[in-house]
Amino acid sequence: MLLCNRATCVLINTMDKNFWNERYGNAEYAYGEAPNSYFREKLKDLSPGSILMPADGEGRNGVHAARHQWKVLSFDLSDKGRDKAFRLAHGYGVTLDYMVGDCLELSLPENHFDCIGLIYAHFPASIKSACHQKLNRSLKPGGHVIFEAYSKNHLSYQARFPRIGGPKDIDQLFDLDEVRQDFSGFEFQELAECEVALEEGAFHQGLGSVIRFVARKPDTPVGHQ
Ligand SMILES: C[S@@+](CC[C@H](N)C(=O)[O-])C[C@H]1O[C@@H](n2cnc3c(N)ncnc32)[C@H](O)[C@@H]1O
Repeated sequence: MLLCNRATCVLINTMDKNFWNERYGNAEYAYGEAPNSYFREKLKDLSPGSILMPADGEGRNGVHAARHQWKVLSFDLSDKGRDKAFRLAHGYGVTLDYMVGDCLELSLPENHFDCIGLIYAHFPASIKSACHQKLNRSLKPGGHVIFEAYSKNHLSYQARFPRIGGPKDIDQLFDLDEVRQDFSGFEFQELAECEVALEEGAFHQGLGSVIRFVARKPDTPVGHQ
């Protein structure tokens, strides 16, 4: 997949930002206030440290991590998402840092985070692998990725469960080979494509098909053995 040129990327980002700001414009939390179940379960297995939450939207997952002693940096295109994440965090008496901007444009430290939580982080198809490469560089050797997002087989579920949500563009969805390739060199502690029943706010309701994994970045940087 080719990266888009700068003008096209700016246009896509503006359209996406408007879309997400509109979605997050209501008082309710679009995907609920509770964290994603897979993220919650898998985070329990790790010792708290620093965690990066890309595309964290209204912050349900970042705030959950902050409530469990993680030092959280979230980011997202949507400033409305950030505002609601701060509101949620305030309600629980916790704090998190949150940057607003595009994954490829934001400045991220390298070899820094103990964990990255990629939960329904559906970046535009033209940049999603480049986003993963950049995020991988920001993870410490030995750090973990917790990932859940819709699979390419999810399209048939959208037809049957109209409130399940997810991108309609198959290239924005994931398959097992693609994640193995994007996270090549990582130790996959588990990796599966499976059917899930979601009850997450108004926009993730019903059965869907997801790819989910926990993977550990090798101690020796990939390509430097
Ligand atoms: C389906 S929502 C998931 C939000 C959150 N992870 C959750 O599970 O509640 C996808 C999020 O990806 C964000 N996003 C899409 N493209 C992005 C990009 N290029 N850079 C940063 N965030 C992006 C959107 O703004 C949106 O908040």
